[in-house]
Amino acid sequence: MTAHDSPDFTAHWAAHDLGDVLVSANALQARIKELGAQITREYADNPPLLVCVLKGAVNFMSDLMRAIELPVEIDFMAVSSYGAATKTSGVVRIVKDLDVDLANRDVLIVEDVVDSGLTLNYLRQYLGARNPRSLHVCALLLKEGEQRIEQELKYVGFTIGGDFVVGYGLDVNERYRNLDAIYTFVGEA
Ligand code: IMP
Ligand code: MG
Repeated sequence: MTAHDSPDFTAHWAAHDLGDVLVSANALQARIKELGAQITREYADNPPLLVCVLKGAVNFMSDLMRAIELPVEIDFMAVSSYGAATKTSGVVRIVKDLDVDLANRDVLIVEDVVDSGLTLNYLRQYLGARNPRSLHVCALLLKEGEQRIEQELKYVGFTIGGDFVVGYGLDVNERYRNLDAIYTFVGEA
């Protein structure tokens, strides 16, 4: 057992900005295995195209795709909805678009966290216009009660409260994406 296996482990180099461990590394990996198994069953006849929403979903995508036992394909989009602050601007900018054609594909959007729902709402409309055969969402985190736009989410890893969180892909000012657990952020944004 390493320090990282302990639910109370806090990365020393980040400790002054981090509150409690909200989702431990072990809990993340266990839940992602379950999601992968479910996706494997539900998409058995139609392996999906996984669309990772950069940058926040990069850790989740990396683990999720290896938990799916199907010949999936992957692609990446980069969107920016936050400036340097911890509240959504409501404005979504496409920073990098997909490389592949979505026509007739079963597309599964892999997203880190759904907060107001504005980002996902925009992405759904944007990608839905390209005639995929199906378009669903797998979100690692759902902030309970925070949605300004109601979302139908096919897969959700964890439902959490409204606190701002970092780690496992999630950042504040581009930092803390490389933590292997999810923490509440208590520093200055
Ligand atoms: P929404 O458009 O308000 O749903 O926000 C979605 C995007 O905001 C996510 O894809 C994240 O990039 C970012 N975000 C929302 N909440 C958090 C958080 O607690 N930590 C880090 N990023 C967040
Ligand atoms: Mg994001």
